[in-house]
Amino acid sequence: MIKYVALLLAVGFASACSQSLDFERMRQQKRTDPYASSMRTPPRGTVAVSDRASVVADVSVVRGRHVYDIYCAVCHSEDASAPSVMAANMPGTPPPSLTTGEAAQRSAAEMFEVVSHGKNRMPAYDWALPAEDRWAVVAYVKSR
Ligand code: HEC
Repeated sequence: MIKYVALLLAVGFASACSQSLDFERMRQQKRTDPYASSMRTPPRGTVAVSDRASVVADVSVVRGRHVYDIYCAVCHSEDASAPSVMAANMPGTPPPSLTTGEAAQRSAAEMFEVVSHGKNRMPAYDWALPAEDRWAVVAYVKSR
């Protein structure tokens, strides 16, 4: 009797295993590719790294000048060449010239990063300026 029970169990396991190895139906059935369908739409103003140079070339330098006068001149001075009187009296590293020297040599992407996220006493502007305006102000600074 025990032998029969053991045999029945063995047959039962064997058939269960052969069913669970039936992957072919899963491979062939209709399915959704998670990477194709669930990518979130990038936020407005997102620019692929490979497209950055052309975006900087396209944006309006005139708009950038307008943004600069409002947000940057107070520290970097109107002509961007030296710290403003106010900023020269701030403690810590003063704002550098944006027309000559190391800061002026930075790539547009590096400047965009600083304008977006700040650096030491330099404030971040990602909360205040949309990406288009940040690129525009970088284009303006680069055009000086
Ligand atoms: C509150 C004063 C202040 C304002 C306003 C300000 N900056 Fe600055 N900025 C600084 C200071 C200070 C530094 C130097 C940071 C350091 O190197 O420690 C700096 C550095 C920079 C640099 C050079 C960063 C580097 O790579 O070394 C750039 C480019 C720059 N600012 C652009 C801008 C632009 C564009 C704006 C306007 C959107 C702006 N800044 C507004 C104070 C300011």
